[in-house]
Amino acid sequence: MSLILFGAPGAGKGTQSELLIKRLGMTQISTGDLFRAAIKGQTDLGKKAQEYMDKGQLVPDSIVIGMVEEVLQKGVKEIILDGFPRTVAQAQALDELLVKMNLSIGKAIFLEVPMKILMDRLTGRRVCKNCGSVYHIVSKPTKMEGKCDSCGAEVIQRNDDKAEVIETRLKTYEEFTSPLKEFYKKAGKFTAVDGNRGTEEVYTEIEKIIK
Ligand code: AP5
Repeated sequence: MSLILFGAPGAGKGTQSELLIKRLGMTQISTGDLFRAAIKGQTDLGKKAQEYMDKGQLVPDSIVIGMVEEVLQKGVKEIILDGFPRTVAQAQALDELLVKMNLSIGKAIFLEVPMKILMDRLTGRRVCKNCGSVYHIVSKPTKMEGKCDSCGAEVIQRNDDKAEVIETRLKTYEEFTSPLKEFYKKAGKFTAVDGNRGTEEVYTEIEKIIK
């Protein structure tokens, strides 16, 4: 079953996607990761996206939707949409794309985490510069300080994980992404999962929903 994983910044979408990929062989489409790869590659798309991401704002819908359409055209199956859609306009565009491509989404899983926990998760997050593995200085530290457990490369803080940018991201989430709960309730696809538990507990519940 293909699914949408949505929730506030730091809710654990990336962490859960990583487990779903490893254990169920699903394919993740993370618009945040696609933009970060474009920034690393210094492409025009990357340069445009960076202007918004560094400020904690959303990249314009037209750019995001075009990028997702390109990925879906590659014929992926059993997908996890992580961080997309993020606005009602994106959700409507996704519905149209799915019809056009004869694809369907089974569930829109909302990871629910209290705001005060999100701030700790985001300020403490560290990511590998090379492979993108995600750590946390308290809940999931690297074995060797500053070095990725998987590939040994340097582990850094994301530009948008600075406290002042996080504040804008959380406000942006409330204004533009939170309305998706209603959108997917109306579509009969909404399921909420308590994301304020251990990673494995959260995963077990998501797996049950999918199966
Ligand atoms: P994106 O990369 O999608 O960021 P985000 O939605 O803000 O989500 P995060 O990656 O910050 O958090 P996450 O939920 O994946 O949490 P994680 O698992 O890492 O987007 C970045 C930017 O790109 C946006 O701001 C925007 O500018 C742009 N963009 C992207 N998509 C867009 C779109 N569709 N439209 C417009 N613009 C778009 O976990 C966080 C931390 O918590 C980690 O340290 C982790 O170890 C820890 N953690 C996770 N789970 C648990 C747990 N259960 N218990 C304890 N700690 C946990």
